[in-house]
Amino acid sequence: MKHPEFKQPPGPDGSYFFGCLTEMRQNPMAFFTRVAAEYGGVAKIRFGRNKYSYLVSEPEFIRELLIKNKTSYIKNTRYKQLARVLGEGLLLSEGQTWSRQRKIAQPLFRLEALHAQVDRSRSDIANFADRLELLGSKNQFIDIEPEFSKLSQMLAGSWIMGDPFRARADEMAEIYLTATNAWPVAPRTALGSYRIPPIRAILTLKKAFSDFDRHIFAIISEFRRGGDSIDFGMMPALVSGHFEATGEELSDQRLRDQIVTLFIAAHETSGTGMCWIHYLLSKYPEVRDRVQLEVASVFGSKLPCAADLSRLEYVDRVIQESFRIYSPIHSLSRVAVEDNTIGGYHIPKGATVIVSLFATHRLAKYWKNPEAFDPDRFTEAESAKRPPFSYIPFAAGHRNCLGGTMAMLQAKMTVAQLSQRLKIDLMPGHPIELMPSTTMRMRYGMKVEIEPFEQRSNFEELPTSLQALA
Ligand code: HEM
Repeated sequence: MKHPEFKQPPGPDGSYFFGCLTEMRQNPMAFFTRVAAEYGGVAKIRFGRNKYSYLVSEPEFIRELLIKNKTSYIKNTRYKQLARVLGEGLLLSEGQTWSRQRKIAQPLFRLEALHAQVDRSRSDIANFADRLELLGSKNQFIDIEPEFSKLSQMLAGSWIMGDPFRARADEMAEIYLTATNAWPVAPRTALGSYRIPPIRAILTLKKAFSDFDRHIFAIISEFRRGGDSIDFGMMPALVSGHFEATGEELSDQRLRDQIVTLFIAAHETSGTGMCWIHYLLSKYPEVRDRVQLEVASVFGSKLPCAADLSRLEYVDRVIQESFRIYSPIHSLSRVAVEDNTIGGYHIPKGATVIVSLFATHRLAKYWKNPEAFDPDRFTEAESAKRPPFSYIPFAAGHRNCLGGTMAMLQAKMTVAQLSQRLKIDLMPGHPIELMPSTTMRMRYGMKVEIEPFEQRSNFEELPTSLQALA
């Protein structure tokens, strides 16, 4: 019998050659959800001859992975494509570089600084609502996915790079869209990863990266030249923080890595999250009614302000529940740098450990009827019944999301402003299919119909459950 330290977790073996690779690639979310439900908190999954990965799903074991054993793991260095774009930025850096970068960035995420930024961005969201209204009046159906992406780029870019970004936002959004369309799609068969991507896609991607960098370096050189009346976003603090910590100047290349990392971390997730929230609101009109009523009761037809967003308790629950069902980051991946144990099971050095947020957010013992959209799961009383780490859309531990609070504030500001003015409905028959890429995207985008929303004045016509909110 093996020493208990080497106890192996249960898990599926799949077929002789490819293990579970085919099933996982065909539908990764369904696969991880099945494995988490059938094999428990830690599962060892065979992905080929002598190739195994570990899925950690139980909240207590997620705590072991991300907190108790944190020094036994690094981020998965196999995000090669992403690493090429991000360089040595906060999301993928490790060790001292990471801890220095995090310490320097942290003060930029204090609540008062975030509130001030959210208030500054109110007019961007108002302009976005104007644009949607205009598009809605011209076309019957529009794809709102690239629109939310552009909005979240504006929110992130102007926050991180200030005025010089604003001047370039449209051009950069075009480049970003080109890169997104050419980005390799996750293979759906076992042999798919051996397929060579079409040369045209490789060249398009290469050109998009270099066009994007051209803008970023132009922004950096504008910043280096200075200007008293220009807002340069986070750049001054990142540069002076680096100098104070190391006594050295931050090079243009390293500043580029930092701002591109923050920009992508902030807007990819937020844009995709915004889509899913509005998809769910369109699918559950009774929830949308409650959202509209709460926003009306707190702000009337006034432009919402950051300080009062905390009064939108129901909207908060709606966003949390959307991030449970469609967590914009659907999974975390780590590599063990030494032998260790999770849940009493042996995890060998070099092993890949995955947490599927999608699967953990659906564990039946913590989430009754997990596919149903029910924001009231997030009342204080209901949340208190669940263990910590059962809900982790922003991860947890030392590598948790630095921008979680900002993401919630911006999502609330956007939901509030849009719900004051517009009714966004999914086009009848438009297919919604999950496309887990770096973030959880929609395979066919999100075609919607947009109409101006008329504030309801006669609350007596509403069901009594909603009148209380009015
Ligand atoms: C809905 C929006 C967002 C979601 C769901 C989200 C989620 C996450 C998750 C799950 C991680 C951990 C990834 C991992 O460990 O592999 C992460 C990391 C990170 N996020 Fe976010 N994020 C969001 C918005 C933002 C925003 C607005 C910012 C602002 C810049 C941001 C900055 C970061 C950074 C810098 C990290 C890396 C932290 C580190 O490794 O120390 N995120 N995010």
